Amino acid sequence: MRPLIVIGNWKMNGSLASNQDWVKTVARGMESGMPAGRKFVVCPPFPYLSQCAGMIKEHSLAFLSLGAQDVSAQSSGAYTGEVAASMLKEMGCSYVIVGHSECRLLHHEVDEVVAAKALEVLDNGMTPVICVGETADERNSGRAQEIVCGQVAKQVSVLQDRLADCLIAYEPVWAIGTGKVASAQVVQDMHRAIRLQLAEFDEDVASHVGILYGGSVKPDNAVELFAMPDIDGGLVGGASLNPQDFLAICQA
Ligand code: PGA
Repeated sequence: MRPLIVIGNWKMNGSLASNQDWVKTVARGMESGMPAGRKFVVCPPFPYLSQCAGMIKEHSLAFLSLGAQDVSAQSSGAYTGEVAASMLKEMGCSYVIVGHSECRLLHHEVDEVVAAKALEVLDNGMTPVICVGETADERNSGRAQEIVCGQVAKQVSVLQDRLADCLIAYEPVWAIGTGKVASAQVVQDMHRAIRLQLAEFDEDVASHVGILYGGSVKPDNAVELFAMPDIDGGLVGGASLNPQDFLAICQA
């Protein structure tokens, strides 16, 4: 049985003061108990990891884990501006998002780099959250499954058995931050296709890997999405900035 996982991706948002309020509100909300068999993760920007790790500890938030939004594909050395997986581990991270479409677009990140980042994360004892997804043009031309399964196949070719320790996040680029959520059935169909792609490599791995959906997840669509058999949770951007909305999605 795969656990339901909700990951909040703050992107480039937050401040020392607002982060404090966020954790306090979430702590209060989680105190009254959370549904069993679920995992919750928050991914603040790098400079706030230490602050958030401290607050999670201070509030004894056993339900909430810390994650990062990106990582270097290298382990150390002359890479100005980059952050190594070992550093994220030291800061208390358990999860790291890799291959987010914003990184693929802005940093021209290709599948090989995404896989190298995932390996760094795994080698440092954390869980990579590998993002895949098609653009609006790719969907409109009927190539959505081909594109997404192609991205998954590239990860399989590098990561092989180690995929069992990864999460995959299906994030259609046209649904990110646009309010245009893909229908639960469209998402379910894609998640099924991803699982079948994984099963071509190994059925056991395919049945273990959690596949999350991301793209305008909100409290009012989370229930329907999470009820689908192959949707194992959500990667939530905009709505995760509001602690009440994040809590509502965690409870969906
Ligand atoms: P969104 O972002 O929820 O704001 O659409 C999701 C993501 O990019 O991870």
